[in-house]
Amino acid sequence: MFGARGPASLNLAVRDLQPSATVAINELSDSLRRQGRRIHKLGLGQSPFPVPRPVVEALRRHAHEKDYLPVKGLQALRAAIVGYLERRHGVVRTAEDVLVAPGSKELMFLLQVAFTGDLLLPTPAWVSYAPQAQIIGRTVHYLPMHAARRWCLDPEALDAHCRERPDRPRVVVLNYPSNPAGTTYARAELEAMAEVARRHRIIVLSDEIYGELHHEGRHVSIAPLYPEGTIVSTGLSKWCGAGGWRLGAFVFPPELRWLLSAMGAIASESYTSTSAPIQHAAVTAFEGGAEIDDYLVRARSVLRGLGGMVTQSLRATGAEVVTPEGGFYVFANYDGRREELAARGIFTSTQLATRLLDEVGVALLPGAAFGRSEHELGLRLAYVDFDGASALQAAGLEAVDEPFVARHGGGVVAAMEAMRGFFG
Ligand SMILES: Cc1ncc(COP(=O)(O)O)c(C=O)c1O
Repeated sequence: MFGARGPASLNLAVRDLQPSATVAINELSDSLRRQGRRIHKLGLGQSPFPVPRPVVEALRRHAHEKDYLPVKGLQALRAAIVGYLERRHGVVRTAEDVLVAPGSKELMFLLQVAFTGDLLLPTPAWVSYAPQAQIIGRTVHYLPMHAARRWCLDPEALDAHCRERPDRPRVVVLNYPSNPAGTTYARAELEAMAEVARRHRIIVLSDEIYGELHHEGRHVSIAPLYPEGTIVSTGLSKWCGAGGWRLGAFVFPPELRWLLSAMGAIASESYTSTSAPIQHAAVTAFEGGAEIDDYLVRARSVLRGLGGMVTQSLRATGAEVVTPEGGFYVFANYDGRREELAARGIFTSTQLATRLLDEVGVALLPGAAFGRSEHELGLRLAYVDFDGASALQAAGLEAVDEPFVARHGGGVVAAMEAMRGFFG
């Protein structure tokens, strides 16, 4: 009805924008499963564990809450988030420093809308930061990271970038434990980063959405080391297994109140406020307690066991893999098998991911989706295709050792077998 003029009237910035790689792979995997194919879903990074019982109970109790809530979030939730941050990391903030939203992804988008400075993105980086910048028309400055440094940003590289382009307002995104590599920073590395950030007055967006899933429960935040310039990003999606509930939060330093206020104003003109029952339930999640602590201890040990098994299996297929320290991802590099793969017509990470899905039913994401060169043969695997509820229950009763992982690893174990078959 609108003819060729329809698409031509699209905003140039979004004309060639594709659906997010991670959402797309999930939809493709589901449709292949519906066609009867056996697919191992290592594409979408969704927690395999159920939402902790007390949090589900809280949601049930608050199902009747129906009013719009304040744009910045329910006061009790903002207070609970501040309490959580102080308890876990010794960062002292007030409820006024918190902005709650339907997912931390939304907050990252609002940040990019509100802030005009440079966006510095260490790569490999989570799939959505750069497309969000593209939608808004912002240039991204990529800072490549290296396996030899556990896929962590070298503070000297950050310093060198800032010296080349002095006196620019800028945000650097640090995501740890990382998606896609599962690696994280040691305190000394964060101290060095904080020093550089302070020197160049960089805003640090500290994406700690996987912090509670540090496999040893020892996540360290940069916030207490650089309190004046760090925004902490957190939410329910990963550690609380509640991605579909859509709740995230940014905690700002008082020095960045102007940014919070601007983002709050944009929020008020776009989504208004976050779902009321979910916010009420999230109070219970952030207040924590013995049952939630126990849930986390079990979840971490299951993820540690599986992460170790996946790392070893992939290394046996010739990949370079850094052992993950948190979350549920590994980033594998097959450059070492470049020639054999080229002989099979595989030259890029996208071709490698596509062939793995076509030939052995393993759904995963190419390194190119994470801001890496197409010609680097990188893959991200989300080791989440297993029955999280039964693994969580069993982890309270048995040691999480190799036989445990073999018994409860479900589709992840099967995927590793399929990978061995593919790589020979
Ligand atoms: C690194 C990272 N940051 C942020 C998000 C967004 O999480 P949410 O919008 O569910 O809070 C994700 C989700 O996959 C992620 O992996």
